[in-house]
Amino acid sequence: MGTGLLFTEDGSAEVVAASFAGTPDARLKRVMTALVEHLHAFVKEVELTEAEWAVAIDFLTRTGQKCDAARQEFILLSDVLGVSMLVETINHRSGGTATESTVLGPFHVVESPPRALGDDVALDGKGTPCLVEGRVTGPGGEPIAGATVDIWQANEDGFYDVQQPGVQPPLNLRGLFTTDAGGRYWFRSVVPRYYPIPDDGPVGELLAATARHPYRPAHLHFIVSAPGYRPVTTHVFVAGSPYLESDAVFGVKESLIREVPEVDDPARAASVGLPNPFRVLTFDVVLRT
Ligand code: BEZ
Ligand code: FE
Repeated sequence: MGTGLLFTEDGSAEVVAASFAGTPDARLKRVMTALVEHLHAFVKEVELTEAEWAVAIDFLTRTGQKCDAARQEFILLSDVLGVSMLVETINHRSGGTATESTVLGPFHVVESPPRALGDDVALDGKGTPCLVEGRVTGPGGEPIAGATVDIWQANEDGFYDVQQPGVQPPLNLRGLFTTDAGGRYWFRSVVPRYYPIPDDGPVGELLAATARHPYRPAHLHFIVSAPGYRPVTTHVFVAGSPYLESDAVFGVKESLIREVPEVDDPARAASVGLPNPFRVLTFDVVLRT
């Protein structure tokens, strides 16, 4: 009688992969087989000790225990390992012309409030006033009227409204805008600031143990969508911000970085309701069909 399916160190991956032979779903079979092959290769490469295995189990257990309705520590773990960005990038290849995507992040947790073009989303009165504007077009440059532009950002202290209930006004620095007939959107906000991802849990311990900082460079989040086009989840990053080259979640793409120049134009300042001079962040968005 052959013993080919008994567990051995050399044949471990094959033995476990064979246990999935009867998986009815072909995709699940492929994913589980590859997962086991890579996991076993990793354990063999580092010769994982029993103590290290126990640390890993404890870490993953605490990662799960840290999760609740407002906190998703497993996604944060995926983020700091670059897996979120890899999945995002594989699934949203821009084809070179459309606006590139980046991570959604955990703070798009509420329905953004519908707002009128030109509204001020900075409800807490903190930060450097800034006009945010741009055009939404299709791949051929055609303006997309009626596109939905959903935005959110952290405040001057480096927190999203949902991280500081009772401190920030609800729905601070969030808004759902609709482009005009020329595909244009504009609103008043403040110049985005860099901030740390939540680092008071197991993911923060991992960052500290590996001498990594928890910061993300200054950015403003967008989800732009329109009927007949593929939606894009992205950010615009502020040129010159600290941490552009060391984003804790690897979200920066060169094509998404913009200058935020100061503009001295009293007439325009008056027309948009900002003190002169003011800062302008221009971010045009190209959607794919
Ligand atoms: C964010 O940009 O809001 C974010 C993204 C990933 C992890 C934490 C925060
Ligand atoms: Fe963010």
